[in-house]
Order: sequence, then structure tokens, then C-alpha cells
Amino acid sequence: MKKKLWGGRFEGKTDDLVERLGESVSFDARLAPWDICASIAHARMLGARGIISKADAQKIVRGLKAIDKAIVAGTFQWDPALEDVHTNIEAALVERIGEAGKRLHTARSRNDQIATDIRLWARDQIDAVVRLLRDLQAVLVDFAEAHIDVILPGCTHLQHAQPVLLAHHYLAYFEMFARDRNRFTEARKRVDVMPLGAAALAGTPYTIDPKQVAQELGFKATAANSMDAVSDRDFLIEFCAAASITMMHLSRLCEELILWSTPEFGFIEIGDAFATGSSIMPQKKNPDVAELVRGKTGRVYGDLLGLLTTLKGLPLTYNRDLQEDKEAVFDASDTLQLCLAVTARMLPSIQVNEQAMAKAAREGFMEATDLADHLVAKGMPFRQAHGLVGRIVLYCIKSGRYLPDLTGEDLKRFSPLLDASICEKLDARALVRRRATTGGTGPRQVRAALRRAKRAVQSR
Ligand code: ARG
Repeated sequence: MKKKLWGGRFEGKTDDLVERLGESVSFDARLAPWDICASIAHARMLGARGIISKADAQKIVRGLKAIDKAIVAGTFQWDPALEDVHTNIEAALVERIGEAGKRLHTARSRNDQIATDIRLWARDQIDAVVRLLRDLQAVLVDFAEAHIDVILPGCTHLQHAQPVLLAHHYLAYFEMFARDRNRFTEARKRVDVMPLGAAALAGTPYTIDPKQVAQELGFKATAANSMDAVSDRDFLIEFCAAASITMMHLSRLCEELILWSTPEFGFIEIGDAFATGSSIMPQKKNPDVAELVRGKTGRVYGDLLGLLTTLKGLPLTYNRDLQEDKEAVFDASDTLQLCLAVTARMLPSIQVNEQAMAKAAREGFMEATDLADHLVAKGMPFRQAHGLVGRIVLYCIKSGRYLPDLTGEDLKRFSPLLDASICEKLDARALVRRRATTGGTGPRQVRAALRRAKRAVQSR
């Protein structure tokens, strides 16, 4: 059994179950690349400040680089008895370079070390998420452009409301993901602060140079308060909150794909690569991918809630509870990145059934508002027009017809203000064209929105 890093003050041996409870290397080993970067920067600073000799600093840097290679090659032996990623790497360093390795941890604690590692990790994950969001936005723009003339019923309460362009519908998701990108970019600013130098909690008597370390690690600032530096996990909560919101957007998108691919809607068919069959019912083609993305949203919410709950009762400063932050935030990040990537791949596989959308648009009584507006233009008060058109719709329902089926003669019987000239104005395309307000579904507005969206996707 290897001696514990902190074993000096102990006589008795750690209980087996405590080893199991306390080890984190089974999940925090993935922080190794960031842990090594941070240790290299720390060692260089110690050497530059004369806190350790330049020769020792060089040995440490070389040793850490060799360990990094071994980890990448998969030949590094992780030992759960050594608790965590930090201790495993430090022990390996001492094994490789001897005495000098024992000087690395001067003026540092695992408390500021882990806070630094996880911030470096979070910064890279945010960059990856922002790239994935942009890729998904680019796919949405392409999808909107490829279906620029397609009209479908726009819904409120999931009931047919007014016809819209399919492109307009998908650009609504573009806006959600634009806000998500913004949210992650904003959160990144608060990640970009370096805790090293806080040591255990109070700072250190060594004449360290945190600015040098921050610069080497690309941090914008150093922590203003050492106690906050080692106990703050707000940035991970923000990460999980932003991830939850993005998952919620993905889930809404997927929920629609699931609905739209039912025979009742029949609006789309998802490509074979993104659907699965049934083990018993040979006819089935199920939208499992969309369902899984929707399902995984719940687990990311769970990660956020778990983290918030872990933090809520913690007195200053570091408490071991904080070790529980990692699995939550790793899971949220992995799940989010996988779901973003798979959704971006699934969308182009979708076949749109334009006829089904057009039929639904024609049979939805969605011309009713415009018919009332027409009466208003002829001088009828809106409330009266609303009532009259309501009666026309009821007549249609009872006689098994839709508004486009009505002739000028039919309409005249309801009001002398109506005649055949209104019929062409009630065509779905005409209805869409009239929604020419900024942000509306009018084709000119949607084309302009598409151009803006393209520019936003290209600007990195
Ligand atoms: N594995 C620990 C964590 O994730 C590292 C810090 C340990 N610090 C300590 N004082 N026990 O929080």
C-alpha cells in the first residue's frame, strides 16, 4: 500500500470503505491534461521566483510532459489508493524524477489546484459547446433555405392558428441557439479567473507571482479573494444552467420532430440513420434519437439541481463535498455536446412532406383572422366581424367544408360585404405575404432574417 500524501500525521490505516468513498480518480483522471498544464505553469513560476531552483523546475516540467505522454498513450497506471488525479500525477512525478518532484507542491494546495483545473477544463468545454451551437445554427440556416417556399400551419395551443413559412419556424430555433451561445460566452468571462495562489484558503507566505501563472494559462484575471477562490463553484452552476437551457431548446425541437413524424401529422420523415425499428412490430420506424435527446434533458436538469444542492449548505471555504461537483458537470457537458452534435446531423436527414403541410394549412380555418380583417377594412367593427366569421367557420364544420371551398355566393349569404374577390386574398401564400412586419413570417422578412443568420454563423 502506497503512503498517503498526507500520511505523516497518521498512525492508523484508512478503512477500505473510506478508500472507496473518497477516491475521485475514477472520474477526475480526465482532468489530467489541465492538471499538468497548471502544474507546469506553477513550477515555472516557482523556478522564476527562486522558490525552487531553476534546475528542479526544469526537471519537473520535463517529468510532467513525459507523464502527459504516458497518459495519452494509455500506459499510465492510475491508482485509486492515491485518491485523485493530482496525487496520482504527483506520485508518478516523484517516482520519475525523485527529490525535485517533491518540490512541485510548494506554495500550492489541492484546493487551489482543483479549482484551477476545473476552470481550465470548463473554459475548453464552453469553447467546444459554442462551436457545436454554431454548427447547429448553420444546419438550421441550410434547412430553412432549402425549404424557403414551404408553408405549414403555425400553432398556438398546438391548434392551427396562422400559416407560416417552415423557414420562419426553424429560424425561431436559430434565435434560441443564438441566445445560448451568448449565455455560454458570458459565463466564460466568470470562468476566466485564476485561483492559484490562494493555496489552502488564505494565500501563501511564499513570494509567488500569480500573474505569471495566469498569463501562461491564458487566464484574464487572478482571484481577488483567496477564500472565494477555493470555494467558488458558481461557474460550474452557470455552466449547468446554460446547458439545461440549451437542452430544453433541443428537447422542444425534438418533441416537434417526434410529433411531425407521426402518421397523424405526416409532416416529415426522419432519415433511417436517425431512427430505429421495433423488436416485435416489423412496420415500426421510431424517432428514438429525438426521444433520447428529449429524455437526456431531464438528466442535465438533474446535474444542475444536484450541484445547487451540494453547494447550498457549505460554509467557507473548501469542503470535501466539492468533490461531488465533477460527475455532475462532466455528465452535463458530455450529454450536451453529444446531443448538439447528433441533432445537427439528424436535421439534414429529414424529408419534408410539403403536400401534407400544404393540406394541413388549407384545412385549418387559418384564413379566419384575415377574413375578419377584410370585414374590418370594409367598415365592420372587429368584434362583430369576429362573430360573423365564427359563424362561417361553424357552417363549414357542419357541412364538411373548409374556408377555401366557399364560393363568392356562399360568402355573400353571410354578409353583403363579402364576395368572390376575397377568395384569392385568403390563399395561404397571400396570408403569409401579408405578415410583413419586422420579425414576421412574410417571405421578404424571412429572407432578410436568413441573410442575417448566415452572417451571424460566419462571424466566429
Ligand atoms: N479531489 C478533490 C476535489 O475534487 C481535490 C481537492 C482535495 N482537497 C482536500 N483538501 N482534500 O475536491
